[in-house]
Parts: sequence; C-alpha cells; structure tokens
Amino acid sequence: MTAAPPTPPEHDVVRLRRFATAITRVLGIKLPDAKLTMLHGRLQRRIHQLGLHSLGEYEQRLRNPVHAQSERIRLLDLATTNKTDFFREPVHFEYLTQRALPTMSTRGDRWVCRVWCAGCSTGQEVYTLAMVLADYARSHPGFGYEIVATDVSTRVLREAAAATYPDELVEPVPLALRQRYLMRGKAARGGMVRVVPELRAKVKFRRLNFMAERYPLGEFDVVFFRNVMIYFERATQKRVLERQCRVLRPGGYLFIGHTESVAGLDLPLIPETSSILRKPA
Ligand SMILES: C[S@@+](CC[C@H](N)C(=O)[O-])C[C@H]1O[C@@H](n2cnc3c(N)ncnc32)[C@H](O)[C@@H]1O
Repeated sequence: MTAAPPTPPEHDVVRLRRFATAITRVLGIKLPDAKLTMLHGRLQRRIHQLGLHSLGEYEQRLRNPVHAQSERIRLLDLATTNKTDFFREPVHFEYLTQRALPTMSTRGDRWVCRVWCAGCSTGQEVYTLAMVLADYARSHPGFGYEIVATDVSTRVLREAAAATYPDELVEPVPLALRQRYLMRGKAARGGMVRVVPELRAKVKFRRLNFMAERYPLGEFDVVFFRNVMIYFERATQKRVLERQCRVLRPGGYLFIGHTESVAGLDLPLIPETSSILRKPA
C-alpha cells in the first residue's frame, strides 16, 4: 500500500491552480481542487528529479527558453493518467469480431479495415486490437486491417512502440493468442514478452492532442476512444466526439469506455449498446 500524498501547503495552492488551469486549457483534462493533491504529488516528483526545490523554481524552468519546450512536454506527460490493460472491457473485442466486422464486410470481398486507437496509452489496447484483427483475418480471406494509434503523451507512445511487456501484464491474453502473437524474452529479457513484428508493422503511432481543431489521420471504419473522455469536461467531450464523427466513415463504429456516455450530446450516432455507437450508413 502506498501512503496518500501529503496535502499541498497553502502557499502552493494558488500556483497549483495555475498549473491546473493551463493543463485543462491545453489537454482538456479537468483538474478541480479535489485533484490538486494528486497534481502536487506528481509535480513534486519531477521537481525532485530536476534537483529543484519549489513550484516557483519549476515555473521558472518552464519559462526558460532553453528548457521550455521539452519541459512542457514532460508536464503534459505527468498530467495524464495512463491506466490500461490487455483485453480491457473484453466484450468490445467480441462485438468487434462477431458483429461489427461481419456487418461492415458486406461492403465487398476485399477491404482494409482502418482502425483508430485514440488515446492508446502504453499500447495494451492497440495490440489487443491487432491480435483480434489478425485472428479475424486468418479466417476471413480478403480482410485486411491497419491501425493508427495516438496519444498526447510522448512517454507512453515510446513505450507502446517498444511493444515489450512483463509476463504478468499479458495474463488477460488468451493462451492461443499469446502463443501466436507474443515472443518470449530470453536471457536479460527473461520475464518479458514482445509483440511479433508482423503485428507491430500493422500499427502507426502518432502524437495527437484531442484539443486540436482537426485530426489529420484519414478516415476510419472503427474508432476505439475508451477511458479518455471521462477526464474531460462535458463541452470538451462533445467537441472531441464531433471531430471524431467527422473521421468515422458512414456505417463505422465508435467504442467508448463502459463508464462513459454520449447521452444528451446530440451526435450523429446510433447506439448499438451504451458504449458501442454506429454512424448511420
Ligand atoms: C486512461 S488511458 C486509456 C487507455 C486506453 N484507451 C484504455 O482504455 O485502456 C487515457 C489516455 O488518454 C490520453 N490523453 C489524455 N488527454 C489527451 C488529449 N487531450 N489528447 C490525446 N490523448 C490524451 C492519456 O495520455 C492516456 O494515455
């Protein structure tokens, strides 16, 4: 059990609110006062790493032209929550292969399904998608797929591209898929697995902030946008989802997290379930 982070001292609260406001403006992530202790803990770790002593010194570093650009990227990294898992919310992967893909494949015998893993974190969701799509392709000649995976955090994108995970993290992956698509590490890499090159080659990683006006990634048949908008304010959720609808092809599917909802957002989507939406064909 880890100890709860200490409450920030009063004189830091004003500075923390300033950080919180800037983070919300740049990333859309809401950081009410209740989250300031968490933000303080994360900033303290970074301040300590840099050998600095206070939030004030850290603000100065962010203003220093030598460090400003790279430090802002670090700040955005530490503001994000990156929890993820292989086969998280598994019914979505079942629905994808048993309902969504067969429905869309009536478009023609040969097609390349374009999938966007939006807010991909350290890659577990991306490679879960790659494994189930590769398996679907084995039993459906003519079916091809490609995945674009995006996140705003450069740190998680680096980890995702490395595609290397400790054994215990891949426990949710069914044995047959593990045997087919994961390679065991040897010697110094014992206790680790790496995704096979054929699957890694199917994924393109890009840095994208959902707050951008446009998402220049092409069009998609399937968008996985799960457990990201839960951190956004309602108005931001609506704006981001509207932009996602623009890049979703007619008849395409949007998957959101089980605890998320698009109810009342007036989007051009038809619910198949509360977390699986379809753009009218
Ligand atoms: C909790 S993880 C979810 C990962 C995965 N989709 C899943 O469901 O397991 C949320 C991810 O969204 C990313 N994120 C947060 N705000 C973002 C923004 N404004 N633009 C792009 N990505 C963002 C974070 O960096 C983080 O990796």
